Amino acid sequence: MAGGYSIRKIELQDFHGVVSALNVLTTVGPITKEDFASTIKHWNACKIANDIPVYNPYVIVEDASGEVAATGNLIIEKKLIHGCAICGHIEDIAVSEKHQGKKLGKMLIEKLTEVGLQAGCYKIILDCDEKNVKFYEKCGYSRAGIEMQIRK
Ligand code: COA
Repeated sequence: MAGGYSIRKIELQDFHGVVSALNVLTTVGPITKEDFASTIKHWNACKIANDIPVYNPYVIVEDASGEVAATGNLIIEKKLIHGCAICGHIEDIAVSEKHQGKKLGKMLIEKLTEVGLQAGCYKIILDCDEKNVKFYEKCGYSRAGIEMQIRK
């Protein structure tokens, strides 16, 4: 990847970097290294097929420092509709503050989109704040639907 950064799947060594990057998005809470490891283990165990994981968590790492600059996940859902098609959901996109504005967010979305399309997803969707609509439009996404929730 150009510009001194590399993109790859999340690894156990990314614990502190991923938690720190996610803190720009929301509260991560007091998770331990063991919580992180068991979540990665769970993610790795969930499969749509042998070569298609349900969870596709990625990080962008700065080559010089080894620092996690960005993280995001693509979750692939198996449906009944459209002939048991699969649909991608992009979740938990975060670029740490000092690495923002360097096109890393765009590279991450492009990578997750490519992974989803290569797996055979008929669509890839995500929720975002109004303030990030332009960013996602620059990544090729367009407005569709309205998000609703029940929240505890
Ligand atoms: N509003 C309008 N345009 C934006 C934007 C915003 N909020 N954020 C980025 N852009 C534009 C950039 O100017 C750039 O445009 P260009 O290609 O014409 O120069 C393009 O989108 C790509 O931007 P990029 O440098 O890849 O953005 P980034 O690496 O800073 O990542 C976020 C963008 C939103 C992911 C990042 O700022 C972030 O993590 N924010 C905090 C957490 C968050 O809101 N996550 C998203 C959850 S839905």
